[in-house]
Amino acid sequence: MAENFPTFSLLESTRWRDYELLDSGDGLKLERFGQYIFSRPEVQAMWKRALPEKDWSSADGTFQPTAEESGGHWVLKKKIEERWKMSYPLPGTSGVLKFWTMATPGRHLGVFPEVASHWDFMAQAVQRAGRPANVLNLFGYTGLASLAAAAAGAQVTHVDASKKSVGWARENQELSGLSSKPIRWIVDDAQKFVQREGRRGAKYDGIILDPPKFGRGPKGEVWEVYKSLPSLLEDCRAILSDKPLFLIVTVYAVKASAIHVGQALEEIMKKYNGNVESGELVSREKSAGRLLSQAVFARWHLK
Ligand SMILES: C[S@@+](CC[C@H](N)C(=O)[O-])C[C@H]1O[C@@H](n2cnc3c(N)ncnc32)[C@H](O)[C@@H]1O
Repeated sequence: MAENFPTFSLLESTRWRDYELLDSGDGLKLERFGQYIFSRPEVQAMWKRALPEKDWSSADGTFQPTAEESGGHWVLKKKIEERWKMSYPLPGTSGVLKFWTMATPGRHLGVFPEVASHWDFMAQAVQRAGRPANVLNLFGYTGLASLAAAAAGAQVTHVDASKKSVGWARENQELSGLSSKPIRWIVDDAQKFVQREGRRGAKYDGIILDPPKFGRGPKGEVWEVYKSLPSLLEDCRAILSDKPLFLIVTVYAVKASAIHVGQALEEIMKKYNGNVESGELVSREKSAGRLLSQAVFARWHLK
């Protein structure tokens, strides 16, 4: 094993009751989101499906991809609700997150179940800190990471480029009964926001970022993970408080290596007395117990 290398780990979100990876293979994954079952493309599922065809064909929805990158449409078997509720039990006394799910045009369903292990980690870090924590969630989408941190007692700033996603996140705040919690909902380009916070002298104790491979800010600002992530990490370091709790990065781009993201984070955080851990976010199949890697991550946390 290479010397002085960040700890390598596989993170599995084991607290789900409302989500299951039922099976995978032949470039597909079969998942349960609450009461509905969906079949979606999963290029990395390079093995044979374990469940018989009848289980796959009984899915309520199947995403039919087109040649265009992440293009395609849903074929919905029977009239499923336009949106339905799901929940996630947070660790300790942070309660239960409740949120809306729906089959969105872009194959996503309003939640990335594999990042739940980060929600647990953040909620525990905020509770353990024993002091008020200021947390920033960049590329926050439907806000579940923001709600997990707020439920644990943090003051949260949530940033996403999509007005629709931020609206959805606010509805999830209400549904989770967290309307009184201090959350700032911001529609903005992540990098622009962080640079402005830097100029303002704002400080955060915890930052979580989960950028897409490619994205656009509200004014068309281009986000390309390999080009933009290094400078965004630099900018994030500049707005960390003197005693930060965590800095968590998740990368969905297929080519990304946990080793590289881990080393980039280690370099950024070397002045702080902490640990870097990196690896993969995985889901375990109910059918054959195989692991499906969904993203790579690196996280820095106080020793
Ligand atoms: C992979 S999703 C994030 C998932 C989210 N972290 C979660 O755990 O549910 C990527 C998000 O990045 C947002 N986004 C894309 N480009 C952006 C940019 N330049 N600035 C801010 N948000 C951006 C998209 O609107 C989308 O909500």
